[in-house]
Amino acid sequence: MEDSWVNSAERIGADLHLEMSAAGGRRAALIRALRDAVRGGRLAPGTRLPPYRSLAADLGVARNTVADAYAELVAEGWLTARQGSGTRVAERAAPLDASARVPKKVPARARGPRHDLRQGTPDASSFPRAAWAASYRRALAQAPNDAFGPGDPAGRIELREALAEYLARARGVRTEPSRIVICSGFAHALRLLFHSDVSGPGHGRVLRGPLAVESYGLSFHRELLTAASVRTVPLPLDDDGARVDGLDRERAVLLTPAHQFPTGGPLHPSRRAAVVDWARARGGVVLEDDYDGEFRYDRKPVGAVQGLDPERVVHIGSVSKSLSPALRLGWMVLPERYVDATLEAKGEREAWASAPDQLALADFIVSGSYDRHVRRMRQRYRARRDRLVAALATQAPHIEVTGIAAGLHAVLRLPPGTERSVVRAATWQGIALDGLAEFRHPRATGEDAPDGLVVGYATPPEHAYAAAVEALCGVLPPE
Ligand SMILES: Cc1ncc(COP(=O)(O)O)c(C=O)c1O
Repeated sequence: MEDSWVNSAERIGADLHLEMSAAGGRRAALIRALRDAVRGGRLAPGTRLPPYRSLAADLGVARNTVADAYAELVAEGWLTARQGSGTRVAERAAPLDASARVPKKVPARARGPRHDLRQGTPDASSFPRAAWAASYRRALAQAPNDAFGPGDPAGRIELREALAEYLARARGVRTEPSRIVICSGFAHALRLLFHSDVSGPGHGRVLRGPLAVESYGLSFHRELLTAASVRTVPLPLDDDGARVDGLDRERAVLLTPAHQFPTGGPLHPSRRAAVVDWARARGGVVLEDDYDGEFRYDRKPVGAVQGLDPERVVHIGSVSKSLSPALRLGWMVLPERYVDATLEAKGEREAWASAPDQLALADFIVSGSYDRHVRRMRQRYRARRDRLVAALATQAPHIEVTGIAAGLHAVLRLPPGTERSVVRAATWQGIALDGLAEFRHPRATGEDAPDGLVVGYATPPEHAYAAAVEALCGVLPPE
């Protein structure tokens, strides 16, 4: 017969599950069980064992049985016994099987770069903690009980209503809550739309490739599509944005119309109209990645392409740039014909976006905190961009900042052939940033491949920004 006991956490300080076979008597079984627990790493070095009496009571054995077992293991070197500090697992009783070791504290992350100018993240030190906490508190207090049950895969209605109003007002999106599906961000939206296995075998894809993409973009997104067996076809870029006149047999096209990522230009109005015409004529669909659409500094942001034809454009956004990529909250505004298939791809229940987080974001939007935060960050990022441009104008006037005054990053055009050495020099100086080549589609043709740096000016905390710009100017090539 096999007995097992879990002794109480308050006595031992940690749950200890002892598998004790009755073979060979209780004393021998307890010795074996404790030795295995130490050897396997379930009892970490230094762990204090329970007093004889309490373990004996838990296990239903005599006190002396526990005392004898402890004494034996002390003699074998697995345990140590010291007056006043009880019996503990010996410090040198290293587990033999490294894979079964008790997880140790995760080591602190290796120290990051001295100056972090990588694109991709907003200033984490500016996260609106107080306003978010207030929204969260209100959302929890007002949440109906069903918010704590299995979630609707479409997302909370409160958030979809708030987004429908916000996106119409701030981004010119034409929609209603029933066309919005909440997801955990842009990457998740791509998975839902193109992968066939997101919610288990058996469900089909919402969209199929080949998919035209801009010749510059995030390689992470391209890899995600490749993993879904979607072929991506690069569209060359020029001063007016993606050459959508090159669209042919593709079934869909993915664009960053408000602010091409990462090169920084907007899609020209004639191209916006042309891509919608292409979708209408060919039964295609436009995926609009509106990743930083709210952040335009030289004029009012241009509205979403989705506004031109809500039945031909999937508009995708998230809070990753406006608030934080840690929240993992995003949305898809879908043509009606894709709504059911997208919900099916999500599965029967919400498995990604926490309902309380969704309610907090709904409150954050409806209460005006989202607009206030975006306005505040717009001013801050604009000042940072201006500071970068001014520093370059005095210290490296031959380096041009390309693209519009928008977003959270800028592209610095470098003299031909210098990109790699500049990125290397930056790394030596403790500056983290990317070269433009990093973002180029591996099969891109039919256009120049200029040398450049992608500078994420939103990333450093406010107090560290000036030093980061100075350091950057110091590694730029001379005229
Ligand atoms: C081009 C681009 N699209 C979308 C996103 C947003 O991605 P996600 O919503 O998955 O965090 C980012 C990064 O924030 C981005 O750089």
